[in-house]
Amino acid sequence: MYNYLLTSALGLEAFVKKEVQKQGFEIREVQDKAVYFTGWIEAVARMNIWSRFGNVLYFIVDEQERVRDFDAYFDIVSSQDWMKYIPEGYEVVVNATAIKSELGAISTLQGVAKKAIVKSLVGEGKLRENKDKGKIEIHILMDNDTLRIMINTSGDGLHRRWYREMTGQAPLKENIAAAMVILSGWKYREPFYDLFCGSGTIAIEALMIAKNMAPGMKRRFAFQDSWGWIPRGLLDEEKKRAEQMLFEGEYKIHASDIRKDVVESAKRSAKFAGFKEWEIEFSCEGYDEALRKWASGYIVSNPPYGLRLDEDGAEEIHQGLARAYEREDIQGWIITSDLAFEKRGNTKFKKRKLYNGGEMCYFYRKM
Ligand SMILES: C[S@@+](CC[C@H](N)C(=O)[O-])C[C@H]1O[C@@H](n2cnc3c(N)ncnc32)[C@H](O)[C@@H]1O
Repeated sequence: MYNYLLTSALGLEAFVKKEVQKQGFEIREVQDKAVYFTGWIEAVARMNIWSRFGNVLYFIVDEQERVRDFDAYFDIVSSQDWMKYIPEGYEVVVNATAIKSELGAISTLQGVAKKAIVKSLVGEGKLRENKDKGKIEIHILMDNDTLRIMINTSGDGLHRRWYREMTGQAPLKENIAAAMVILSGWKYREPFYDLFCGSGTIAIEALMIAKNMAPGMKRRFAFQDSWGWIPRGLLDEEKKRAEQMLFEGEYKIHASDIRKDVVESAKRSAKFAGFKEWEIEFSCEGYDEALRKWASGYIVSNPPYGLRLDEDGAEEIHQGLARAYEREDIQGWIITSDLAFEKRGNTKFKKRKLYNGGEMCYFYRKM
């Protein structure tokens, strides 16, 4: 069995924990932004393609408690079997994070680890690194004096599903959009609506969830770069397994936005995500017009907000939305940094704090 860390956005740890358990792996510990678990090597492929809410999957090479001086640190790092983990000629990038630890200087942690790895690979010789061959990221985590030496198996953050063609205005991270869909309580049968769809993230994530589609099917992962210690064929096997778990069904998912160019781009992203044209109904219209047509179901939206609340008519939009939520046939969640939202109408909301791109916002759910 191996140890892994799947990192998470602050506030999504419970989602990440659940998805790890759902894929059959055992949780060791959950901390802020971190879910530790154990599993066989399949976890590298399986959690990378299946994590809807996580950020990066790290394989933990070694873990040692009470590491408080750099000599001990150097020895532990250099004693790992780096020949096994680092393919010849690869560029070795070392990053580090320190939380409440005696060894807290990031650049020293990085520099000493790199020296230790080089010593382990080539002794006193010079390490030949060729950027064109590939790159491997070693991450050093010092947490309360516990050292974790880890390898980034994902590469880019897992929220990047690689279906989004253009980012539009203030796009939502895909894993946050997915969490909104789950939190909304939508059970796939009712109509689902995003009235401010931008690049289409919420609607695309909703359809992926409804179909039980693994979110990482279309993207590349760092571990695919011919790492000999990960069995060849593992990713293909896990993808085949994921394909067998797809649900077919018809869902009523609508996505609209006032800007024609973003709607066109969102359509292309939905196609790139693997969906047929009719699976998400896109339209170009203002939210108020869309609301007038709309009968009943779930609205999950991310209206213009934040620093631009006083621009783009955002304040008026929030006012209009608060009034719309007074309708009995409307359920839903919105994500906004408008802290006055719940006082704008007569609807009672449940709220949940979350950070989107470093900005504090709230999920508001009609009670
Ligand atoms: C924060 S962005 C949404 C981003 C989207 N969730 C994504 O992931 O790309 C807000 C969107 O609201 C749209 N918008 C602004 N005013 C609108 C209105 N009155 N009716 C409908 N959409 C509007 C903008 O064009 C923009 O795409």
